[in-house]
Amino acid sequence: MPRKPFIAGNWKMNKTVAEGLGLVDELKSLVAGVDDVDIAVFPTFVSLGKIGEAIKGSNIVLGGQCCFWKESGAWTGQMAPGMLKDVGCQWVIVGHSETRGRFGTVDDELEKLLPYFGECDTTVNMKAKAAFAAGLTPIIACGELLAERESGNTDQVIAEQMKIDLAGFTEEQAARMVIAYEPVWAIGTGKVCDAAEADRVCGLIRSIVKDMYGATVADAVRIQYGGSVKPDNAEELLSKENIDGALVGGASLKAGDFAAIVKAAR
Ligand code: PGA
Repeated sequence: MPRKPFIAGNWKMNKTVAEGLGLVDELKSLVAGVDDVDIAVFPTFVSLGKIGEAIKGSNIVLGGQCCFWKESGAWTGQMAPGMLKDVGCQWVIVGHSETRGRFGTVDDELEKLLPYFGECDTTVNMKAKAAFAAGLTPIIACGELLAERESGNTDQVIAEQMKIDLAGFTEEQAARMVIAYEPVWAIGTGKVCDAAEADRVCGLIRSIVKDMYGATVADAVRIQYGGSVKPDNAEELLSKENIDGALVGGASLKAGDFAAIVKAAR
């Protein structure tokens, strides 16, 4: 069975409510009628409600950029998956390198501090399970740092992340979840991963899914590539056998660029 491409726009900490409404307004008309690609946007928490209303009835769906694993309670600053569902989300990203506290380009002092607010593989796994329990579907992100790639440890890092991140789901959940391979050094840097190499790592992820959940699940699961995806490199990446879509940051902030990436997936 062919896997339906999935293009997700992660707005990160960008766009006010008004700016986001302008963006989806333009995007809706640019991608109108596209039914062979799944399209989702991931605005900031504070604009989810308004953006959700604006895209109602269109072919664009809504997702949250992160969630906590508890349903409610004294967890200041956190967001319950059920609350994301309540404002119309269908998806949630967990394990993005920026919520893991693994950034590609920061100065030395910050690098020591950032991991303290980060997720770890165990909490990524808990968040993904909480997402399913609330009726959302998780996009589980993974990826190696530049130092890990340069020391020849990419495959080991990915395997270690996946083993914990993907543990303990039902086969139905495992087939429905989306995995995003995002080399940290390629995020927001303009340095896209070579398409053949991205395809190789996505293939490795598929083989890990196969070991954990069997061939049928591995065939069905969608694996996105993320990291400096732009209109001019999207087609080559998306033509690869193991790449079923893209998690797009910077280029999702411009309706024309994001729509061009959606069209490259067709
Ligand atoms: P980028 O971000 O497209 O700006 O590199 C991708 C991501 O972090 O999801």
